Parts: sequence; C-alpha cells; structure tokens
Amino acid sequence: MKIDIVSIFPEYLAPLNLSLVGKAISDGVIDLNVHDLRSVTSDKHQTVDDSPYGGGPGMVMKAEPWGDLLDQLVTQDSVLVVPTPSGQHFTQTMSAELANESHLIFACGRYEGIDSRVMQHFASRIKVREVSIGDYVLAGGEAAVLVIVEALARLIPGVLGNSESAVDDSFAEGEMANLLEGQVYTKPPVWRDLEVPEVLRGGNHAAIAAWRRASAQARTAQYRPDLLSDSE
Ligand code: ADE
Repeated sequence: MKIDIVSIFPEYLAPLNLSLVGKAISDGVIDLNVHDLRSVTSDKHQTVDDSPYGGGPGMVMKAEPWGDLLDQLVTQDSVLVVPTPSGQHFTQTMSAELANESHLIFACGRYEGIDSRVMQHFASRIKVREVSIGDYVLAGGEAAVLVIVEALARLIPGVLGNSESAVDDSFAEGEMANLLEGQVYTKPPVWRDLEVPEVLRGGNHAAIAAWRRASAQARTAQYRPDLLSDSE
C-alpha cells in the first residue's frame, strides 16, 4: 500500500517510523511519504491560511496550496482521507475498508480546517472521506492520522505476525463481534495475591472460550452497554 501524508508539521508524523508501522515500511509492505504543504507556496511567508469568508474566529487553510500539492499526488486509484471533527466516525469497519485501498492520501488540516472547495473538487476526481476519530477537537489532523494509519496498518495482510492476530480484537468481526475484548493474563499464576482464573490455567478449550465470552460481555456491559444486543 502507498500512503502519502500532507502536513505543515511533517516532523509530527515521525513516530510512524517506529514499531508496527515502521516495520511494515522497512519490510516494503507500506510505502509511506510525508510532504510539507509549505513546499508548494511561493510567497516569502509561505502562506497556507487566510481569514474565513463570512467572518468569525480563526483561519482557514487556502485551497491553492492544497490543490497544487494534491495534484502532484493524486492518481485514479487514490483515496483522499481528510481528518476533521466534522467527519464520519472512524470505526474498525472503516479501518478495514481503508486497509483494502492501494493508495491513501491524508490531508492534515490545521486551524479551522481546509477550504471546502478542496474536498469538493477532488471528490469529482477520486474517493474522498472526511473522518473523525472521536467527539473532541484536536489542534490538527496529524494526531488523527497517527491513529488511523496505525489502526489500518495492522489489518494489511503480512503486517501482523502469526503470533499476533487481529481476529480477537475488540470490534473485530466474527464470534466476538460487537464485544470489547475481555481480561487477559500471563505468567506468573499468582501476583500480589491475585490469581489468574483457574479455568484459563486448564486445558478445557470449550470452558476457556465460554470464560472469554463472559469476560468480554462483562466488560462491554461496564463500558459500552450500547454495544450489547438483547441476547447478550
Ligand atoms: N482534527 C481535529 N479534531 C479531529 C478529530 N476529532 N478527528 C479527526 N481529525 C480531527
């Protein structure tokens, strides 16, 4: 998969070179490039923003630099992803959809956002998705891109090793769909007088599966009762 990220703070994206995504990059599974929006400006101050039409506080990112830089990156297979608190909620389902694409371009807005004509124009050429990672306002799209890229990267075949797996994740499809992942334990069997549940230490796979389901249901009831179906 090819990923291009456009930002006025390219250094913000440096953590993508670490850990899981970093390994996918060095393994050649992900071809990731970060671009500085200011590189296409020609004025002395490298201006990328201006005051909003209609008045109000804050600044809006100008259409011209975005258009010029995106023109260099867009191909017919590209999907433009624009993180914004006014976007569609990012979910595991959307993460899997994005993981299936061959080329993602992330446009990191700052200030009050990007001139809406940029999304309007590119929507006539390629798929455009405006995406919110939650009901809170970040200072810009960069932190959201770190979240989205990490979430989708682990769904690209070959990125997670065999010993890791996305199938039991909270929000994954399948048997445990719509349940948060339950409690997990590792050695030692007793730590500060706290014991690992007996059933997990035995070899009864059916009993272990039933315990895990009950644990997932209990956690979901505690933190996300909205996810439980009537039968749960
Ligand atoms: N930019 C600012 N806030 C955001 C959010 N909640 N999600 C995605 N992008 C954002």
